[in-house]
Amino acid sequence: MLPVLRVLFHGRCVLFDVPSTVLSGESVSRPAHSRPGLPPSQQAAWRRTYASTHYRKLPWFSSTPYPWVRQAVEEGWLRRASPVLDLGCGAGTNALFLAHSGFRTSGIDLAPAAIEAAKARAAHRGLSIDFRVGDALRLPFRPGEFAGLVDVGCFHTIPIDLRRAYSSEIARVARPGARYVLAWVARESSQPFGPPHRPSLEEAAAAFEEEFLFLRTQFSPARRGPFAEYRALLERRARPRPAPR
Ligand SMILES: C[S@@+](CC[C@H](N)C(=O)[O-])C[C@H]1O[C@@H](n2cnc3c(N)ncnc32)[C@H](O)[C@@H]1O
Repeated sequence: MLPVLRVLFHGRCVLFDVPSTVLSGESVSRPAHSRPGLPPSQQAAWRRTYASTHYRKLPWFSSTPYPWVRQAVEEGWLRRASPVLDLGCGAGTNALFLAHSGFRTSGIDLAPAAIEAAKARAAHRGLSIDFRVGDALRLPFRPGEFAGLVDVGCFHTIPIDLRRAYSSEIARVARPGARYVLAWVARESSQPFGPPHRPSLEEAAAAFEEEFLFLRTQFSPARRGPFAEYRALLERRARPRPAPR
């Protein structure tokens, strides 16, 4: 039987085929010397999700940009006209907003159907965006290529023992001082559906602090649906993290 994720969406219960390792929180070990990718079974599950369900019917889809991303742009926290990368961009709503706001925008997602949708939506609006199918744990970008990063709901899907690898890979493509807008479903969400890992603030810090400084964090009791969330603004460290004293 395929593992399923039960999600409550607008009062309806929706079932999605998701990786069993995601559901169980099972760890996946990789050699430390290579850039580990997401396990193939989990990649396949994301592909199937988008191939079998129209993106507009997925519970996380929104046709409007995520409020924390909008705020980061409107307050000038993400520096306009700079190159930004949307990690796990899905059908591209946040990337479309960033490109429309004048950023040189790239987006990456594992699911070809998500990227096809994102490209079609960009073309429809006359926006030029570098959308790519790929793994955020093995980014097809040069070191220091981005001055801004956006991650709405990708980090919390990463297996627990790949979180540190996720941070170092993102840090690799971020230039010193690059700004990173991050949002994830909070540990405090107690619903039996949705992402199983739900990093606490401490776990997020353990994942990212080596390469990034947490400049601002916010707890939000609800997003578009039933989940509590954390939102954070991070900055790529220009120097190594000071040793603990
Ligand atoms: C909860 S959805 C959020 C999508 C989008 N950011 C949004 O807010 O609509 C998580 C997305 O991350 C993508 N994803 C998960 N792991 C990934 C990885 N390792 N590399 C690239 N994309 C990934 C999934 O395909 C999915 O589109």
